[in-house]
Amino acid sequence: MSGLIERYRQWLDLPDLAPVTLGEGHTPFILWDTWQGTRVWLKLEGCNPTGSFKDRGMTVAVSVARHAGARAVICASTGNTAASAAAYAGRAGLMAFVVVPKGQISVQKMLQAAAHGAQVLEVEGNFDVALDVVRHTADEHSEWLALVNSVNPWRLRGQETGAYEIVQALAGPPAALILPVGNAGNISAYFHGFRRVGRGIPRLFGIQALGADPMVQGAFIAKPQTVASAIRIGRPASAELAREAVAASDGFFTAVDDAAILAAQAQLAQGGVFVEPASAAAYAGALKLRAEQRLPAGDVALVLTGSGLKDTDTPLRWTSLNPVLTRPDSISATILNALQHA
Ligand code: F0G
Repeated sequence: MSGLIERYRQWLDLPDLAPVTLGEGHTPFILWDTWQGTRVWLKLEGCNPTGSFKDRGMTVAVSVARHAGARAVICASTGNTAASAAAYAGRAGLMAFVVVPKGQISVQKMLQAAAHGAQVLEVEGNFDVALDVVRHTADEHSEWLALVNSVNPWRLRGQETGAYEIVQALAGPPAALILPVGNAGNISAYFHGFRRVGRGIPRLFGIQALGADPMVQGAFIAKPQTVASAIRIGRPASAELAREAVAASDGFFTAVDDAAILAAQAQLAQGGVFVEPASAAAYAGALKLRAEQRLPAGDVALVLTGSGLKDTDTPLRWTSLNPVLTRPDSISATILNALQHA
């Protein structure tokens, strides 16, 4: 299957380049439930090649970087950008340097980046410190080193394609779009995507984790805290863009606490959809807005940004790995017993 650049080249205003693709995009979009008059749709972005929505932006950013003659890419990351940059750089034949906050990234994401051949560099401090460092480094070496964080406008252009797909699936925009907000790039990208399609803009509800919610507080947070490590960000690089997008769409930002995020993760997983905590924040936000009767009628789409396999420690807070050792000749009796007690 072709990737996003081939599919949407006419929308992306790209130079005439050879795409670096892993077949990203066209992710599943499923009707999850109907709550009174609201149809709740889930966009399963964890089904992208590296397990997160970052691939939409990375195919474009890495293609442009290679076309422009870069030898290497660099990013700061809470994990998913690192894994995606590493994979696309590997595919492109470029080196990748990923800078992560020490001790704050899931093992799976670190391992992904390393497996794809990236040089993983840790810094003391949080994501915001890492982003400052890579911006500076990329500036210093701009003739051969490309910055592929979402401050790179090509990343956001690529991520707009999520909006194109949702409009196509629903034959028009939904009434509202709910998505988790960390560095605030994705919500800005969706806004521009809906605007470019020209069929109307949904209300944008940006969900942050309580304790890492600068967009809700209206002030940066020096030491952001949340179980959702992907969105543990106190100083979002695209804060201004996101604020404008949310205001222009008649939306808002709101926060959900860690307990709500984990409960949402469990509820989705038990309905067959395994996402990482940052993505579960979007669902926790939807549940909160339903309780507050603030969800519009009609179609509401949730962007579930990353796979549950990205972070396998957090589910241990609500489930356990206790397989029951069973003799082969008692499997049948065990199953019947479970059925009787269901
Ligand atoms: N969900 C997941 C799974 C993420 O990894 C991120 C961001 C977000 C949501 C928030 O998106 O930053 O555009 O507002 N992850 C970045 C990273 C920061 O480095 O992987 P955003």
